[in-house]
Amino acid sequence: MNLSIKNIHKSYGELKVLEDFNLELDKSRIHCFFGPSGCGKTTLMHVMAGILKPDSGQIIMSSDVRFSYIFQEERLLPWMTVKENVALVLQEKAPAYVERKVLESLSLVELSDFSQYYPSALSGGMRQRVSIARAFAYEGDVLAMDEPFKGLHLKLKQNLMDAIYKYWVLHKPFTYFITHDIDDALYIADDIYILDGPPMKIIEKINIEVPHELRKTNPELLMDYKMRLSGIR
Ligand SMILES: Nc1ncnc2c1ncn2[C@@H]1O[C@H](COP(=O)(O)OP(=O)(O)OP(=O)(O)O)[C@@H](O)[C@H]1O
Ligand SMILES: [Mg+2]
Repeated sequence: MNLSIKNIHKSYGELKVLEDFNLELDKSRIHCFFGPSGCGKTTLMHVMAGILKPDSGQIIMSSDVRFSYIFQEERLLPWMTVKENVALVLQEKAPAYVERKVLESLSLVELSDFSQYYPSALSGGMRQRVSIARAFAYEGDVLAMDEPFKGLHLKLKQNLMDAIYKYWVLHKPFTYFITHDIDDALYIADDIYILDGPPMKIIEKINIEVPHELRKTNPELLMDYKMRLSGIR
């Protein structure tokens, strides 16, 4: 399964955010979108997921694809507990499965002790982790993440990225994410798209050829990439 974005146009009034935009993503790699605030990254991800209708153009991928989508803003229901917010995406499933999946997902994001809390009693980073847990629990064919690690402490972030990578190896969802953090991009992505805009342009695509297993233990292998990315910034 590949994802093809062909000749997409999307404007908000006079503002052309996507203008004849084209992109081909390979399922076997983890993709990262990296670019300045306002260049159109969220718009692009919304269009790719069918949340936003483009003015014209085509998104080509299998029609029955299920999305695990982590939105840029946490979309938690304030009247539901953490546990209920995660279980929300498992409505069709048997109760025993839901119980197991929710607890497993909350454990991955280190929130097992907070399952009965309401979102208003959590910090921003904790709410963000509930959104990540929900995406894990749903097990979509696509894992689309809009700034999933923002506001998280380094150690926890690395644990989460390790968890996402493990999940990716196991389930092989089509995975792409947005970040403003060079280190996050280099820790987990295979292909980094350097973007600018609007209208959005791909300035450069950087393939990270360092094996995932070495990125944590041998960060010096990423130095050249880091210099390149820092220069672009
Ligand atoms: N619903 C909307 N109505 C009007 N303009 C919008 C709307 N959504 C986004 N825009 C505009 O489109 C442009 C791209 O927005 P978008 O949210 O896609 O950027 P982004 O790259 O995700 O930025 P950030 O890194 O800050 O999240 C911005 O100028 C924004 O003001
Ligand atoms: Mg955005």
